[in-house]
Amino acid sequence: MPNLLIKALAYVRGSLTSITRFKQAAMLCQYGSLRVVKKNGEVIIGDRTALWPGVKLSCIGTPAQKATLKIGARCSIGDRTEIHCSDSVSIGNEVIIAWDCNILDRDYHATDAGPEKTAPVVIGNRVWIGCRAIILKGIRIGDNAIVAAGSVVTKDVPPNTLVAGNPARVRKIVKGWRTSVQPTGT
Ligand SMILES: CC(C)(COP(=O)(O)OP(=O)(O)OC[C@H]1O[C@@H](n2cnc3c(N)ncnc32)[C@H](O)[C@@H]1OP(=O)(O)O)[C@@H](O)C(=O)NCCC(=O)NCCS
Repeated sequence: MPNLLIKALAYVRGSLTSITRFKQAAMLCQYGSLRVVKKNGEVIIGDRTALWPGVKLSCIGTPAQKATLKIGARCSIGDRTEIHCSDSVSIGNEVIIAWDCNILDRDYHATDAGPEKTAPVVIGNRVWIGCRAIILKGIRIGDNAIVAAGSVVTKDVPPNTLVAGNPARVRKIVKGWRTSVQPTGT
C-alpha cells in the first residue's frame, strides 16, 4: 500500500480513537494496535501526534485522585512504549519518544509496609528520549533535553542537557535535536 494511503488511514484511525477513548477529539496518527487502560482518569493528546504499533497508555486513578495523562501536539510515541499514569504525566509538544521506553509516575508496589508511592512526571517541549529509556516517578525533564538510549532517569534533567547511563547523569550541554529522517516504525 502506498505510504500516503497508510498515513491517511492512520489519521482516520487515530482521530476515531481520540473521539471514542480520549477527552478531546484530535487529529492523531495511529499506526497498528494501541492499548488504552483507563479508569478514574483521562487521556488528552494533541493534534498530529503519532502513536506507533503496540503503544500502551495506562491511566488509572482513584475516585479521590483522578489520573491525567497529557501528551502535546506533534509528538511521536515509539513502538511498544508504555506510559503508566496514576496521578499526572504531562508531556510537552514536539517530543520524540523512541521504542520500548517506559514512563511511570508510580511504582505499582510499595518498598515497605506503607502505600505505593506516586509522583507526577513532567516532560518539557522538544525533548528526545532514546530507545529503551526508563523515566521514573517524580521526574521533570526540561525543554530540549536528550535522554540517551537505555538510560534510567532517577533525577530531574535540566533543559538543554544530554543525560545518559543508569542512573542517568548529565554528559553534555545540547542545543536541541534535529531530525535527519521522518520518524518510522521498527
Ligand atoms: C543520545 C545520543 C544520540 C547521543 O549521541 P552523541 O551526541 O554522539 O553523544 P556522545 O557520543 O557525544 O556522548 C556523550 C557522552 O555520553 C555517553 N553516552 C552516550 N550515549 C550513551 C548511552 N546510551 N548510554 C551510556 N552513555 C552514553 C558517551 O559515552 C559520552 O561519554 P564520555 O563523555 O564519557 O565519552 C546517542 O548516544 C543515543 O542514545 N543514540 C540512540 C538514539 C535513539 O534511541 N534513537 C531512536 C530513534 S528516536
